[in-house]
Amino acid sequence: MTTKLFRHAHIYTPQLGQCPAAGAAQAEVAEWRDGSILVEGGRVAAVGAAQDVEVKVSGKNIDEEHDLEGATVIPGFVDPHTHACFAAMREGEFSMRLAGKPYLEILKAGGGILSSVRHVRAASEEELFCFSRRLLETTLHYGTTTVEIKSGYGLDTETELKMLRVIARLGRETPQTVVPTFMGAHAVPEEYRAEPIKYVTLLENEMLPAVAEQGIAKFCDVFCEEGIFSVEQSRKILQKARTLGMGLKLHADEVYDLGGASLAGELKATSAEHLLAASDKGIAKLAQGGVVAVLLPATAYSLKKSFARARVMIDKGVPVALATDLNPGSCFCQSMPFVVNLAILGMNLTPEEALTGATLNAAWAVGMEKEVGSLEPGKMADFIVLDGETPAVLAYASGVRPIRSVWKGGEGQSAGA
Ligand code: NIG
Ligand code: FE
Repeated sequence: MTTKLFRHAHIYTPQLGQCPAAGAAQAEVAEWRDGSILVEGGRVAAVGAAQDVEVKVSGKNIDEEHDLEGATVIPGFVDPHTHACFAAMREGEFSMRLAGKPYLEILKAGGGILSSVRHVRAASEEELFCFSRRLLETTLHYGTTTVEIKSGYGLDTETELKMLRVIARLGRETPQTVVPTFMGAHAVPEEYRAEPIKYVTLLENEMLPAVAEQGIAKFCDVFCEEGIFSVEQSRKILQKARTLGMGLKLHADEVYDLGGASLAGELKATSAEHLLAASDKGIAKLAQGGVVAVLLPATAYSLKKSFARARVMIDKGVPVALATDLNPGSCFCQSMPFVVNLAILGMNLTPEEALTGATLNAAWAVGMEKEVGSLEPGKMADFIVLDGETPAVLAYASGVRPIRSVWKGGEGQSAGA
């Protein structure tokens, strides 16, 4: 077992005692100005003020010692919402959006998600894996050490299972920790366009049981949106997923306020995601249900929409997490630093609130809070050495990568971008 000691680090980390961190607790972050991290076998053995860690170090054989020269250290980013398993870009559609065609109109015309479905169905498992691995390499370079990935570009049993196998392989063969989510309810496929209700039945009776039997999805997510899946259909699908032992997530109120946030609250889902159009009532239901709001400011930015009302959510006691939404359509973003930047400058989170949102609350949103998301004894030694004096550098420095190095399980990563 390798033992490593990182000295002279200016450490900032949220702590598990406050998890998910809601309200004022979202801003409570521990800080050690001259801190050390002792890593054994890829996990944090001790962390804190230099003199306190020193006590644990005495008598140990240290294999590697790193002097961080006062640099700022934060936990590795946890990106709790991506669609990072796809086989082709959709830049042409982006140009259509720039020219004024709305995102949901492109989907209605058979493009959007359905265009990605055609590419993913046609791709071999190997092609899908290689394309997606390159996406993850870039996210690692930008500090993402844990990532949730949704299926949802298959929309038939065989291709959804193919995607989930690729997602599992990404977890085994990349340095990152990968959390798989089944999202067969991402859109109604073209072959069911005339009778969408039959697709809901297929999801309940065939796709969800097949996924559950193979045990390859931790969560189930549904795109609850005008013209996609109604609140009633979303409720049915998620209730079925729950009986099969999956955690619940919901794409809620992204474009229209359909009542997705209220549904997530009613079901006490783990998370409700997007929420650009969520109403006051929806936000109150999230708080009541203990649901984490996973906010995706880079999507609002890319769709040229107003940001989610993060301040209202925090003030009403909803724990907020931050994610990229990395996908080929609404938001091709591989950078958690960009997301944190937008959260601070666009949604008015404080740097501490944004840090908790991009690490520990995000870990909670994917059921990984005991493993990742903060620097505490026993957890994976996942951290980022920042090129700045405080985590505020993530907003202070725009359009660059204020990162010196990324460490996953105590190993330095040198992924290219
Ligand atoms: O989170 N809203 C639905 N799904 C994705 C977009 C997927 C796509 O456009 O391919 C999202 O924005
Ligand atoms: Fe999404």
